[in-house]
Amino acid sequence: MERKVYRDVIFTRLRHLDLKWFIHKAYVYIFLKIEKYLKSGRSPAPLACGLVVTENCNMRCPMCVLPHRYLKNRNDQDSDTWKLVIDNLHELGIGGIAISGGEPTLRADVFELVAHARKNDTTVTLNSNMVSLSDKQIRQLIAADPNNVNVSIDSGREDLNDQLRGGKNVLAKVLDRIRALSAAREAAGKKFSITVVTTLSDANLDDLDILFEKVSKCGADRICFIPLHDIKNGITYLVESKKVKPDLFEHLLKLSEKYGLALENSSSYLKNFYHVMTGNVMKENCNAGYTHLVIGTDLKIYRCIPYMNMDRYLFKWDPARQSLKELWNSPKWRKDRLEALHCKECFWDCHAEVNYLIPM
Ligand SMILES: C[S@@+](CC[C@H](N)C(=O)[O-])C[C@H]1O[C@@H](n2cnc3c(N)ncnc32)[C@H](O)[C@@H]1O
Ligand code: SF4
Ligand code: SF4
Repeated sequence: MERKVYRDVIFTRLRHLDLKWFIHKAYVYIFLKIEKYLKSGRSPAPLACGLVVTENCNMRCPMCVLPHRYLKNRNDQDSDTWKLVIDNLHELGIGGIAISGGEPTLRADVFELVAHARKNDTTVTLNSNMVSLSDKQIRQLIAADPNNVNVSIDSGREDLNDQLRGGKNVLAKVLDRIRALSAAREAAGKKFSITVVTTLSDANLDDLDILFEKVSKCGADRICFIPLHDIKNGITYLVESKKVKPDLFEHLLKLSEKYGLALENSSSYLKNFYHVMTGNVMKENCNAGYTHLVIGTDLKIYRCIPYMNMDRYLFKWDPARQSLKELWNSPKWRKDRLEALHCKECFWDCHAEVNYLIPM
C-alpha cells in the first residue's frame, strides 16, 4: 500500500502525459540513489516545502508550540513576500507545496497564496483545522484549486477531541465543515482530496473505531496518522505508548475495510508505528535535508517540521537579496543534509514516508 498523495500526483501527471515531469523526477530519483554513496550533500531539487504562513491559531492543542510562539513574536509576512517565496520555490523546481500554520485560514490572503502556489501545476496541500471556515471561505478555497486539503481530528469522541484539540465542540464543527467542503467540491466538479489527519497516542488508541465511523460519514476521502511527538531540552522525541499493540497496522487495515475509509499512509510507514511508539527510533536514514525544506513565518529556513517547531533554523533568509536557488546547494546546506541523514529524532509522516520511497 503506497501513500495516496504520491499515487495521485503520478496519475495526474500520467493523465496529462507530462513527460517533462517524469523525466525530472527520474533524474531526482537517480541522483539521490547515487548520492547515497557519493555523500556530497548536493540535492537536485526538493520534493516538497512546508510554508508556515502564520503561527497564529484559533485552537490551543496541548501538543502544539506554534500559537504560544505567535503570542511572543507576531512576525507574519505580507502577501507579496509569500508570493516571492513561492516564486523562488517554483524556480527551484519544487514538487509540492504545503501551506500550513498555525491556522493558515486566519490569513485573509490564504486562498490567493494557494492559487499562486498552484502555478506551474505544482501540487498544493492546505493544512487546516477548519474549525471556523465559513461558506464563503469554502467557495474561495475551491476557486483556488488545491490538490489536497488536510484537516485535523484527534478523536471521534467530542469530549476527548476537545481535550486534544484545545477547543469547545470542535468535532461537531469540523465534521460539519468537512461535509460542506465535500458537497461544494462535488457541486464544482473538483477532484481534490480531503484527508483527516490524526495524531496517535495512548489518549485515543482505544477509540479508533468511533473515529473511523465518524470520519467515514463526513465526506472525507482518507485518514492519515502521525504518532504524537513532544520536545524536551530542545530535542524532538516520540511520546512512548503503553497501549499500542504489535498488530496496530492490521487493526487499522480492518477498520479501513469496515468503514470504507482509505488509509492515506503507506504500509511501510504504518507497520513501523509499534516500533517507534514503544521507545525505539526510526530504522531508516533521514533524507529530509535532501527532499524537504520548511520556511517559517519570519522566513527562517528549516530542514524539517520538527526543526521548525524547535526553531532550530539553518538560515534567516532574505528573498530580496538572495534566491533560494543560490542557497539550496550552499556549503552550509550540504553539511546539514549529511548531518540530517543520521538524525533519529522523529517519525513525522511527511518526512518519514519519503525515507521509504527513496532510501538513502
Ligand atoms: C501544526 S498543524 C497546522 C495546521 C492546522 N492548524 C491543523 O491543526 O491541522 C499541522 C499538523 O501537525 C500536527 N501536530 C501538531 N503538533 C504535533 C505533535 N506534537 N505531534 C504530532 N503531530 C502534531 C497537527 O495535529 C496537525 O495535523
Ligand atoms: S490547530 Fe493546528 S496550529 Fe493550532 S494549535 Fe492545533 S495543531 Fe497547532
Ligand atoms: S529525523 Fe529527519 S525529519 Fe525528523 S527531526 Fe531529524 S532531520 Fe528532521
